[in-house]
Parts: sequence; C-alpha cells; structure tokens
Amino acid sequence: MGEKLELLFSQKEIEQVVARLAKEISADYATKNVVLIGVLKGAFVFLADLVRQLTIPVEIDFMRISSYGSQKESSGKIKVTKDVEVPLEGKDVLIIEDIVDTGLSLKFLVDHILAQNPSSLRICALVDKKARREVEVQVDYIGFEMEEGFIVGYGIDFDERYRYLPAIFVVN
Ligand code: IMP
Ligand code: MG
Repeated sequence: MGEKLELLFSQKEIEQVVARLAKEISADYATKNVVLIGVLKGAFVFLADLVRQLTIPVEIDFMRISSYGSQKESSGKIKVTKDVEVPLEGKDVLIIEDIVDTGLSLKFLVDHILAQNPSSLRICALVDKKARREVEVQVDYIGFEMEEGFIVGYGIDFDERYRYLPAIFVVN
C-alpha cells in the first residue's frame, strides 16, 4: 500500500492501440491456422480485449511461467508452471504478452514453443520496454513503447495488486 499511481495509458488509448493491433493481426493471419497463446497472468485482459476485435477465427490457449532463484532480479532461470494444451505442430502461433522487459521470459517461451514445431511463431506485446532489453527477441506487434518505470493495471500487477484497473498507471 501507499504507492502513488499516475495515469500513463488511458482506457481510450488502450482501446485504440488494441484495435490497431487487432487490425494488423487480422490482416496478416487471414489465411492461417492461428493459435494465440496468452502468457498468464498479466496478459489476460489484453488477450480478452484483443480477440474480440479480431475478424479472423483463432484458437486460444495459455501458458504460465515463473522465474526462480534470486527474487530480486530477473535471474533468467525460468520454469513452466502451466503448459500449452492445444497441439502447436503446424500451427501459426502468436504469443500474447503483457510486457517485454529484459526479454528473458520471452526468449524462454520462444524456445519452448519452437520445440513443438509450429509452422510460424510471432510475438505481440502490449508494452515494450526496449531500453531494458538484455537478450534479443523480435517483437512483431507492439502496442506501446516506454522507456522506464514500473506499471500496473489492465491485467498487470505489483505483488498481485492492481490487475483489475481498467487503465495503465506508473507506480511511484
Ligand atoms: P522480462 O523477462 O524481463 O522481459 O520480464 C517480463 C515480465 O516481467 C513481464 O511479462 C511482466 O510479467 C514483468 N514485468 C516487467 N515489467 C513490469 C512492470 O512494469 N510491471 C509489472 N510487471 C512487469
Ligand atoms: Mg508476464
């Protein structure tokens, strides 16, 4: 408790960005067998809004991963705590992530999913913190870019709090 939240991306801005991404994805995947994989828990609101703006049929699944080892920093030691259940072989897979920060989580997810032989794999992230990248990952669809700061809301948490907020705020 006691943090100050400052509005960063309003509901209206998020709505516009989600509509733009849905349009791009619908156009690019019009003739494909798409499986969207939402990364839990942070991407649940984004995925729910995004799929309702798509104009193409998709399958939807979820993964959850967690870092272990040192709590304080991104150790890069990651394990799967909930795996994908839909078969991915021969499918066009699109990972739906809330935030790309160091890139370590996504790198792990990409390697994990590629091992299942999808016919293609791309990444869609609502927020890209490009300046903080430690490993290279190609993010194909980006909602917002931001330099620094810790954000919450619209599915994104600080210690499991604030996920329910309809807009995105910086925590001070
Ligand atoms: P990465 O492995 O460093 O790229 O970590 C990405 C993950 O860290 C995101 O999917 C979020 O779950 C979490 N994360 C990174 N930045 C923030 C933030 O500003 N607020 C809340 N979670 C964050
Ligand atoms: Mg996440």
